[in-house]
Amino acid sequence: MAKKFQTIRGMNDLLPTDAPYWQLLESACRSVARQYAYQEIRFPILESTGLFKRTVGEQTDIVEKEMYTFDDRNGDSLSMRPEGTAGCVRAALQAGLLYNQRQRLWYMGPMFRHERPQKGRYRQFHQFGMEAFGFANPAVEVEQLLAVKTIFAELDLLDKVSLQINSLGSAASRQSYREALVTYLSQYKADLDEDSLRRLGSNPLRILDSKNLALADIIQAAPAMIDYLDTESEAHFEQLCQLLDAVGLQYQVNPAIVRGLDYYCHTVYEWVTNDLGAQGTVCAGGRYNGLVEQLGGKPSSAVGFAMGLERLVLLLQAQQTCQHNVDIYIVAVESAQARALQVSSQLRSELPGLIVQLDSSGASLKSQFKSAAKAAARYAVIIAEDELQNDTLTVKNLTTSEQQQGQSIEQVIALLK
Ligand code: HAM
Repeated sequence: MAKKFQTIRGMNDLLPTDAPYWQLLESACRSVARQYAYQEIRFPILESTGLFKRTVGEQTDIVEKEMYTFDDRNGDSLSMRPEGTAGCVRAALQAGLLYNQRQRLWYMGPMFRHERPQKGRYRQFHQFGMEAFGFANPAVEVEQLLAVKTIFAELDLLDKVSLQINSLGSAASRQSYREALVTYLSQYKADLDEDSLRRLGSNPLRILDSKNLALADIIQAAPAMIDYLDTESEAHFEQLCQLLDAVGLQYQVNPAIVRGLDYYCHTVYEWVTNDLGAQGTVCAGGRYNGLVEQLGGKPSSAVGFAMGLERLVLLLQAQQTCQHNVDIYIVAVESAQARALQVSSQLRSELPGLIVQLDSSGASLKSQFKSAAKAAARYAVIIAEDELQNDTLTVKNLTTSEQQQGQSIEQVIALLK
């Protein structure tokens, strides 16, 4: 027998039993984005490697260790997108969408990071993200947080998640914090790992999101960014907290949130759950005012977030059952094939909300009924020899086994409506 191929480690197939959970989640994201007046944008999976180096940051784990990078046939270095913000800004700039304009954009799709796979962490995973450009006021952070809350509420997940926020301040306040952090960390040079030692001189903030557990205590006791905010940064953060209070969004200030990407300033946040073990962050984001300019645009305020869809599907599956339930199952003798096709088409066009499955197996009526039960169908519409000859239909409620014979198609439609 020929060798069978397998998925690549950390990249999953989405099988029919899981699809209904994804559909539920994706449609909640789409409908909330629409309600909040965000417009969809799609951009390629492959981009120039330089785009991610310049935005996510050369010395982040994502860029240093996790990107799928290769030279294409022309010798250009390309990378599979590890996240959506960089591509979103690149695309919006390229199309002139950010030129003296405000924009609210959303996207959904696969992202790729070569991380060590475990529950909730994959090498191909999916994000839904919202990004807003041109809004300096923290009201836009709060509006996005309300959108996230609405999505969680629609999925009945609100009691599973909580919001943690922090501020990384302006570039100027990060500079004074950086000095304090380097002074602090320099005392522990002997304990730092190779990555951290290298980053101490160039990008010390990245040491704070090190995944090395041996450094946890040192990081825990480090000075906190929130104590180094300048007046402007403090005002932004205070206003944010006031607005969150005003709309009744509950949060905790967590000075340990520094995010693993370089582009953030001021607000950063994570929605976390206790139900997924180590991979408990289901949504994360914040403000990134410098990024548009860094990519060659005019300076523009920017705020956004991305949700990890696999993690939300895991939460959904733990608490509810979603099935692909057939509403009407058409059972027909072989000689009634043409009639069965006509009847099913008419049912689908008159009852567009219902799932109509035609048996089409050519098997005995008995075995067609077994298939109807397996599909968990609610009703069977039967066309046996009698029905074929009299030009009628029989409808059977498969839950109660009640049956009505001699029906016209109009009667069947009225009954199933
Ligand atoms: P991030 O924190 O790197 O931020 O990713 C956002 C979310 O994607 C995470 O909270 C998590 O739920 C999910 N995620 C990340 N990596 C994996 C993985 N390997 N497997 C499964 N899920 C994962 C960003 O990507 C930023 N672009 C968010 C943003 C948008 N900031 C501003 N705008």
